[in-house]
Amino acid sequence: MKKILVTGGAGFIGSHVVRRFVKSRKYFVVNLDKLTYAGNLENLLDVEKDANYQFIKGDICDSELINRLFEEHDFKGVIHLAAESHVDRSISNPMEFIQTNVVGTVCLLNAAKDAWKEKESRRFYHVSTDEVYGSLRDKGLFTETTAYDPKSPYSASKASSDHFVRAYGNTYNLPFVISNCSNNYGPNHFPEKLIPLMIHNIRNKKPLPVYGKGENVRDWLYVEDHARAIELIFEKGINGETYNIGGFNEWKNIDLVNLLCDIMDRKIGNQQGTSRKLITFVKDRAGHDLRYAIDASKLNEELGWKPSLQFEEGLERTVDWFFENEQWLNDVTSGDYMKYYDEHYTNR
Ligand code: NAD
Ligand code: DAU
Repeated sequence: MKKILVTGGAGFIGSHVVRRFVKSRKYFVVNLDKLTYAGNLENLLDVEKDANYQFIKGDICDSELINRLFEEHDFKGVIHLAAESHVDRSISNPMEFIQTNVVGTVCLLNAAKDAWKEKESRRFYHVSTDEVYGSLRDKGLFTETTAYDPKSPYSASKASSDHFVRAYGNTYNLPFVISNCSNNYGPNHFPEKLIPLMIHNIRNKKPLPVYGKGENVRDWLYVEDHARAIELIFEKGINGETYNIGGFNEWKNIDLVNLLCDIMDRKIGNQQGTSRKLITFVKDRAGHDLRYAIDASKLNEELGWKPSLQFEEGLERTVDWFFENEQWLNDVTSGDYMKYYDEHYTNR
């Protein structure tokens, strides 16, 4: 069994990645996570007792801890997901993003560089975002050769960490792959992001804050399809390469929120149109990127990956998951969540 380190495995995407790798029984997975507001061990209850899984609470910026882990465990690979991930938070607190996303990534790269004397069959996988490419107008798609043009503190920090990964590949021969993915959605999504926030608010008959005119476009991908792509790239990708991952599934925010309202009205038994009345147009996000859209044909042609779900089906599954996991939603929206929510969504 190959031993691998997954960082940020208690978060949204990380928990789906950990579950997939643990259940494959091909790996011993060490999950390192600081358990920030976004990390939650409830996301991993079904694998926490598995013999090929170990959780370690810790910070990727703690170089002493990271170096020790690399000495103690002979990691064959790293799948690095730990990050501050929310664009709005990066606008109000950029330093935290620089610390975790840039400094933390470099701490991990240093440890891998020093520990991996023999580089054969090792791999450092950085899980990154399509936001590094900036913003599209009405036409065109991001490809792997699109120039980096990050526009928010979050995307600038992810672009910087991508650059460091490539620089360690070039300078120290560190074997790496990078993937840049579009917007994920699905179970365990933290309710500060568009889809789970809307689900939470519709359930609680609270206003649905749509930024600006709701005309910004995102390309949505079901989180398990992302986890499947990560497994494929980790196992079959080529060192030094970048792979774009996306849903071929563009939606204007307002159309998506309307669709979600209709799905939820049907499931709750409301009269159609009830939840749409909760939509409230609020002040736009500063520097709001207009459109993201990924060309994932390289991943399709070279490794045979494509999304498995239609968006409507994925949304139905997601809504069902949130209905069936009320306790999870109650737990993550208690405590500090309300403080952030009140500060962020009032006085607009
Ligand atoms: P998330 O915010 O849900 O989870 C992040 C996890 O990282 C949490 O468990 C948190 O506790 C942990 N973490 C944060 N700081 C840490 C630190 N200093 N040390 C150790 N652990 C720390 O994020 P997500 O949405 O699951 O995103 C995971 C990764 O995928 C990120 O790198 C993000 O940039 C990237 N990504 C996300 C999306 C998306 O749509 N959510 C799309 C493309 C790429
Ligand atoms: O594209 C990949 C990125 O997708 C990831 O790298 C990020 O980690 C992830 O958070 C996500 O970033 P976005 O900013 O696109 O996601 P978010 O859910 O915050 O917003 C989606 C769109 O909805 C965006 O245009 C802003 C808008 N929005 C968001 C919120 C939270 C609203 O209109 N109202 C809201 O309340």
